[in-house]
Amino acid sequence: MQEKILLRNKIRTLKRQFTQAQLDELSLSVERKVISNQRIINADIILMYYSLSDEVNTHSLIDNLLSQGKKILLPYVIDEENIEIREYNGPYDLIQGAYGIMEPTGNSYCNIEDIDVALIPGMSFDKDKNRLGRGKGYYDRFLKKIPKTYKIGVCFEFQKQDNIPTGKYDVRMDEII
Ligand SMILES: Nc1ncnc2c1ncn2[C@@H]1O[C@H](COP(=O)(O)OP(=O)(O)OP(=O)(O)O)[C@@H](O)[C@H]1O
Ligand SMILES: [Mg+2]
Repeated sequence: MQEKILLRNKIRTLKRQFTQAQLDELSLSVERKVISNQRIINADIILMYYSLSDEVNTHSLIDNLLSQGKKILLPYVIDEENIEIREYNGPYDLIQGAYGIMEPTGNSYCNIEDIDVALIPGMSFDKDKNRLGRGKGYYDRFLKKIPKTYKIGVCFEFQKQDNIPTGKYDVRMDEII
């Protein structure tokens, strides 16, 4: 969809106006919101994402929540269309996978319907909690398998839009942080 491509380009341009230090600084306030979110506080099993440098930084957040005794899951890419989920046990068992994303090395986590909360990165989110991702449909294909999981969209404030273009496969979030 052409409109999605245009919006992704717009967001990329916005991101380039920030230095890495500024993005990391902005990440701290998002991190605080996640830590104090009631759904996160109550959750036992959380699907997170291991951030790339231009995304809201989740690295210390992941270890923080792990040290609180929560089960932390991370996605890994299995092919051009699909992600699966693995349990995260600590920074030592991460290995770089597709798209340069760090992924756990262990066995697949099969009880995906038990995931209480999923933290989902996005290029943009809108007022109706629609999500624009990076354009491969990975999360849309995965999230339709866990309709009961509470989905929290995560991005920087400047990435949020009033309305974003959507298609029939786009899975809406329950909350945007
Ligand atoms: N459940 C699905 N079944 C079949 N095709 C799908 C499904 N979900 C998404 N797609 C297709 O995947 C392609 C990419 O979707 P879209 O542009 O929404 O990606 P995205 O949500 O931005 O990406 P990502 O989740 O990887 O960050 C589209 O052609 C879309 O129709
Ligand atoms: Mg989509």
